Amino acid sequence: KDESLYPVPSSKILNVAHRGASGYAPEHTLVAYEMGEKMKADYIEIDLQMTKDGVLIAMHDTTVDRTTNGSGAVADMTLEEIKELDAGSWFNERNPEKAKSKYVGLKVPTLEEVFRKFGRSSLYYIETKSPELYPGMEAELLRLLDKYNLAGVNGRSSKVIIQSFIPESLLNIHEMNPNLPLVQLLSQPVLDEGADAQLEAIKEYAIGVGPSFARITEEYVQKVHSHNLYIHPYTVNTREAMERALDWGVNGLFTDYPDVFREVIKEH
Ligand code: G3P
Ligand code: CA
Repeated sequence: KDESLYPVPSSKILNVAHRGASGYAPEHTLVAYEMGEKMKADYIEIDLQMTKDGVLIAMHDTTVDRTTNGSGAVADMTLEEIKELDAGSWFNERNPEKAKSKYVGLKVPTLEEVFRKFGRSSLYYIETKSPELYPGMEAELLRLLDKYNLAGVNGRSSKVIIQSFIPESLLNIHEMNPNLPLVQLLSQPVLDEGADAQLEAIKEYAIGVGPSFARITEEYVQKVHSHNLYIHPYTVNTREAMERALDWGVNGLFTDYPDVFREVIKEH
């Protein structure tokens, strides 16, 4: 593996707080990110959408419907409109056993607000979501990384890993800054004879792959490593699955429960 483009020692197992500690708090709120940090996750995972007025915000879906009290496409709303929404109450309604009054009225954070809050003391695992809907999102992301001094002069000094399901988005970023560590997400990783070709193509621009854990095997992990790529599967939430992932030799994983993964890593 190319260690020079990896922000941490290659032997370190990365504990990535998926959408923050989203098993305990409303995803993609500052509270969920803080909780991830308290649970000693290595990275805060952030999904990006872009508002009508060109502001990058932390949100998983292209619409605000699931994770706020509003409705409609992010692309059709200004930041001011997004900021009127309650991004926490849905969590209380959906998870009464985990509900907290402090979640009521939480705001959707902009990427810039996340960087202002956590600065260079955190590591960020950032996903460009639906880049086809948001021309210019990659350039805006790189502008903010520069502004907050998070991109580094090489992979090792970078505070971010950038991930996407869309190769064109990663290629676009790679062209603008070849020193940024990139990870290709794979919802349907090719496991059969096409695997080598897929991984070789990815190796041209990325340091690793992020496949769905439900779709991979131990042999696949070995195959990824044989191409000198890192592998960070998503989303692994049970102890049993975390142990299996570690047995298979993954380099880290995305989880809604970074506290549980921290324990599993320690015991493994
Ligand atoms: O980014 C890894 C994982 O988060 C991909 O799935 O849908 O949760 O963004 P999703
Ligand atoms: Ca994601």
